[in-house]
Amino acid sequence: MTALTIPGLDHAPTTHERLLAWVREVAELTTPEQVVWCDGSDSEWERLTQQLVEAGTFTRLSGKPNSFWCASDPSDVARVEERTFICSADPSGAGPTNNWMDPDEMKAVMTELYRGSMRGRTMYVIPFCMGPLDAEKPMLGVEITDSEYVVVSMRVMTRMGSKALARFGEDADFVPCLHSLGAPLEPGQEDVPWPCNQTKYITHFPEERMIWSFGSGYGGNALLGKKCYSLRIASVIARDEGWLAEHMLILKLTSPANKVYYVAAAFPSACGKTNLAMLEPTIPGWKVETLGDDIAWMRFGEDGRLYAVNPEAGFFGVAPGTGWKTNPNAMRTIEKGNSVFTNVALTDDGDVWWEGYSEAPPAHLTSWKKQDWTPGSEELSSHPNSRFCTPIAQCPIVAPEWEDPEGVPISAILFGGRRATTIPLVTESRDWQHGVFMGATLSSETTAAAAGRVGVVRRDPMAMLPFIGYHAGDYFQHWIDTGKSADATKLPRIYYVNWFRRGDDRRFLWPGFGENSRVLKWIVERIEGTAPAVETAIGHVPTAEALDLSGLDAPGADVEAALRVDVEEWKAEVPMIEEWFAKIGDKLPTSLRDELEALKQRLG
Ligand code: PEP
Ligand code: NA
Ligand code: MN
Repeated sequence: MTALTIPGLDHAPTTHERLLAWVREVAELTTPEQVVWCDGSDSEWERLTQQLVEAGTFTRLSGKPNSFWCASDPSDVARVEERTFICSADPSGAGPTNNWMDPDEMKAVMTELYRGSMRGRTMYVIPFCMGPLDAEKPMLGVEITDSEYVVVSMRVMTRMGSKALARFGEDADFVPCLHSLGAPLEPGQEDVPWPCNQTKYITHFPEERMIWSFGSGYGGNALLGKKCYSLRIASVIARDEGWLAEHMLILKLTSPANKVYYVAAAFPSACGKTNLAMLEPTIPGWKVETLGDDIAWMRFGEDGRLYAVNPEAGFFGVAPGTGWKTNPNAMRTIEKGNSVFTNVALTDDGDVWWEGYSEAPPAHLTSWKKQDWTPGSEELSSHPNSRFCTPIAQCPIVAPEWEDPEGVPISAILFGGRRATTIPLVTESRDWQHGVFMGATLSSETTAAAAGRVGVVRRDPMAMLPFIGYHAGDYFQHWIDTGKSADATKLPRIYYVNWFRRGDDRRFLWPGFGENSRVLKWIVERIEGTAPAVETAIGHVPTAEALDLSGLDAPGADVEAALRVDVEEWKAEVPMIEEWFAKIGDKLPTSLRDELEALKQRLG
């Protein structure tokens, strides 16, 4: 066998044998023009962003420093759940909520797709670390990609390059993450601004802790440290090692008495995790700081409390609806620049805009489809799943401890979804097991974050439906066991929230955003044992009097309606939960079946 000569392949800044062997194997399969080991330096960023500008992929913004506008292919705009696979050895390892294919069969299919798939392109090797670099056991990965867009986005979202590679040593474990756009270039063939392939596979091999992605350049399909590693593969590692990898924001709440509480909250994509993480309280004396807006890894500390770390270094936030009114701290973060904006609109003076950015739209824009756009246009200027990709460190309210490898002790876990009916503004679980039931039965109306219909109610357990890397029934059991293994007095309390309940005329009953601080205050007072609640069939719910509503600009009747436990609505919910549990099948924990029976009893 003659070894292929590919420029750069032998200039590896490491002696890690498994890594070197894997990089060579991929290069020989995908046959790129050259191999580049990413160092994460400023000069690398400058070189690649300039290259993306010259390729027509990026437009350099004049409105924000060191920032870029980018439009994807209109067919490559969101997570592709039907093309996402968990290739466990046994089909039951994927369970009823994931697509499954035999790992050998999948490898055979994808190997043929990868064969020559990087022809005419550069193959980048990105060593990265999820979570702080100084963790005792750093969570390492290497993404191989033929996309410059992925390299620069990974630089924002992860700790990558030389400083990550330094932690590999000779033989550290890492998760191999292979990504190809599937768009080889023949000699002389002109490139397109957003190369991708109509055939897409987002594939996970849980036993091998390995990720293969093909055909998409967008978001979690392509930035493999994010959903693929930090949720799907990490949830499998967490199951085996006794911790939790969750789709949760992490925030720090400081009371007027200067007491600190850390809160983790799981909401499905595009349901306000970034907004809650950066909330500006409307009640005096309360302060919120941010640690993360999407993913929390939670492990028990030596004191028996559950500690959360954010594995990411950036925000990949949904742009539409983010504005100076709804989330000023996100706006201040992106104003500092060093950001990539994908599928938003471009202003004539070289800045970005999207629906909700400001009250009045500019008179003229270039839409995400690169068409002229005016306020009279029928179509939106920005795709509903358009994103800003920006460093967490720039957030003006980032908590100083956000990079502490020990994490922060969580006092409360919130589950929430987008529901027009039934689910009250806030409900406290009776105990951990009941809280797991709340999470396991969480439901939400679908959003544009995934390809497919929008506004359909679906169960989204712990907001992890597209992200659980194994059988959902085993995942629920893992949550139950996590509680059983702990000192119950030290476990976080669990709450179910819904900012999105509507009145008869479809108006929102609760103003949301900064006003959600009133709900956080009640939660903290519950933890301190000072706030009253009514015991209902579904858990403990505040009366309007129990909430601090001073200065709230909302009709009292609306607040009452937002808090209402409507037994008839809940009786209509039960068959949907039964249907969901039937789908989980034999692996549904009996304790959750018991919780459902108890709920039915209480509903009468
Ligand atoms: C994604 O899966 O592409 C993604 C970015 O996830 P989310 O919608 O949760 O941000
Ligand atoms: Na998405
Ligand atoms: Mn998310």
